[in-house]
Amino acid sequence: MSESNNPQLEALAAEALAEINAARETVLLDKVRVNYLGKKGSITQLLKALGKLPGDERAAAGAEINRVKQEVQSALEHQRVALENAELAARLASEKIDVSLAGRGRPQGSVHPVTRTIERIQMYFEQVGYAVAEGPEIEDDYHNFEALNIPAHHPARAMHDTFYVSDFIGGASQESEAVASSNDIKYVLRTHTSPVQVRVMENSEPPVRIICPGRVYRCDSDLTHTPMFHQVEGLVVDEHVTFAHLKGVIQSFLKVFFEKDLAVRFRPSYFPFTEPSAEVDIACVMCNGQGCRVCKNTGWLEVMGCGMVHPNVFSHVGYDTEKYTGFAFGMGVERLAMLRYGVNDLRLFFDNDVRFLAQFS
Ligand code: DAH
Repeated sequence: MSESNNPQLEALAAEALAEINAARETVLLDKVRVNYLGKKGSITQLLKALGKLPGDERAAAGAEINRVKQEVQSALEHQRVALENAELAARLASEKIDVSLAGRGRPQGSVHPVTRTIERIQMYFEQVGYAVAEGPEIEDDYHNFEALNIPAHHPARAMHDTFYVSDFIGGASQESEAVASSNDIKYVLRTHTSPVQVRVMENSEPPVRIICPGRVYRCDSDLTHTPMFHQVEGLVVDEHVTFAHLKGVIQSFLKVFFEKDLAVRFRPSYFPFTEPSAEVDIACVMCNGQGCRVCKNTGWLEVMGCGMVHPNVFSHVGYDTEKYTGFAFGMGVERLAMLRYGVNDLRLFFDNDVRFLAQFS
């Protein structure tokens, strides 16, 4: 502050500068500004009073006051900038967000591997012209056994550990009522998806080209068997259908399903509803046929049963056995899923442990 010969003005200036320095917030600083430079502020008042001074003093006094005014103004400006910067820094510090904190993951759902496997199988067969058919899980004895050439007391019934259903009301189709004597219909939880073949043939004429995915039940539970599991059945009926067609369909399907050109072999076998019957083996997908624990050192894995539809089955549904031939096949979904995804324990499919299931998303 420069020298002045007006001690009163100098005191006012000193007071103003002290107040400016003492103001710790912009709102308080603004009050200081109003007190000195506002309309009624003390410096403004001094400038207004200039008019009352004698003319010869006016210019010098005016210059003095304006000098003080400018000093105060620049001190105010200086302090305002300092306070605003400090306030901004404080606000930034208080509103700081720690972006280094890990986000909370959102659990994601996924399709169950068994469902996924059914979808894959279904997608293949739909693309080559098969329709998807479904049937009841509580099935009558006729469709599950009788119509498939497995009469009562036939030793083949021992192949199926059947759950029998007593006192089941309703659900019997008219056709089955017609065949079984009306108050003697026995029901079972279907032991395979093959009865759906019969139901489809009862209701349609050849050509038939279907697959039937679904749950099946057997009274069996250990490391490699669960009381409920899934199968996909296939059936083709038309004129001139041969075992060669069956081989071609199965071979193409297995190559697409396993996404590799694997060796496939047909081994003679027995099923009451097909003649001839075969079981299908693929070269072990774990060891490429070299022999390992999974294939029990044989190099081969059994993946499904199949054969040419037995004429007795056609007779049960009223198809002309002279005109039509057909092939059928049935595969276990869990087994295919285990081989396709390298799952070594069947029970994992039924534990519903999300750590397992999430791996299939
Ligand atoms: N139904 C048989 C089973 O559960 C599987 C099967 C074998 C189905 C041969 C077929 C077939 O259609 O032709 O083990």
